[in-house]
Amino acid sequence: MDSRLSLEGMAGEAKGLSEEERVAARKILLAISAGAREMAGLLASGPLGGLTGASGAVNVQGEEVQTFDEIAQDVFTRTLRGSASVALLVSEEREDPEVLGGGSGSFHVAMDPLDGSSNLAVSGPVGSIFCVFRPSSRKTGEPSTDVLAAAVSPVMAAYVLYSVSTLLVVSFGQEVRQFALDLSRGEFLPLPGPVRFPEKGSKIVSLNAGNASRWREGDQRYLRSLDGTAYTARYVGALVMDFHRNLLKGGLYLYPGDLPKDSRGTGHPEGKLRLLYEAIPMAWIARAAGGEAVDGHRPILDVPPVHIHQRVPLVVGTASLVADYLRIATTP
Ligand code: AHG
Ligand code: MN
Ligand code: MN
Repeated sequence: MDSRLSLEGMAGEAKGLSEEERVAARKILLAISAGAREMAGLLASGPLGGLTGASGAVNVQGEEVQTFDEIAQDVFTRTLRGSASVALLVSEEREDPEVLGGGSGSFHVAMDPLDGSSNLAVSGPVGSIFCVFRPSSRKTGEPSTDVLAAAVSPVMAAYVLYSVSTLLVVSFGQEVRQFALDLSRGEFLPLPGPVRFPEKGSKIVSLNAGNASRWREGDQRYLRSLDGTAYTARYVGALVMDFHRNLLKGGLYLYPGDLPKDSRGTGHPEGKLRLLYEAIPMAWIARAAGGEAVDGHRPILDVPPVHIHQRVPLVVGTASLVADYLRIATTP
């Protein structure tokens, strides 16, 4: 096995894809890497350009849109359109799927163009997340329905981490590879791999304990169970960064649902994170790296997608830590 497989090499060796699909997947990967390179430059000079604040708009999720959310939306829509391989593009920042190139591309893509955008104001790490689906044969002519039918079978997932270095992490389902942006060449170069959650890794737990009083009893019990045990708390508030650290070092990321409103909760039992462009791609990558991802009960990859902006509780990381979570949180 080549420990330093190139981006093109990864697409070329992807299992279970037709030759035509491999070509399309390669073009999508190159479009993601071109967009990521552009974003890395823009983000680095963001504070000087006065670009790190809110745009004034509110998105489909009811959240304040940052200027960089919109910039990332434009950058990746442009590069993915240019790949001529994407039929429908779903984004956190757009209410409806966008038809690209007349809808004739080989794949659908769901993306979170900029993840962790609250970190922008403090020059903290942010990310971008992508999930690539094979269009379902059950074409309905209604883009949202077509994407939902397809979303259960991803063929590729990737994320970009913009931090001390800019990394691109990719999986076609069999393994996970990392690439780092070489600023002098403007290219993503392979790092040794594949990457797997370490068998005897750390026990890092990443969660927002400030929300705990709104969680369901099982999640609160899990948090209490950590007290006095040997674990390390780390939380950046950007899923990409929190996931990536735990992938390399060993750990668990938890963003649970809240209690219903009448029980001191917020009435958001599904939590905050989105199924199509946050939970499914991270679950797909976690699985390929020997980890696991659940919604609190069942595997994320078994959750039926019913809405393109559907939210879902997410517990993802080292398989044994997810198993510990399930044992403690689901057994009163
Ligand atoms: P986004 O910026 O795409 O809306 O996602 C932010 C998400 C996720 O990245 C992060 O882990 C989580 O929100 C943090 O939420 P809290 O501030 O509630 O902890
Ligand atoms: Mn996000
Ligand atoms: Mn986002």
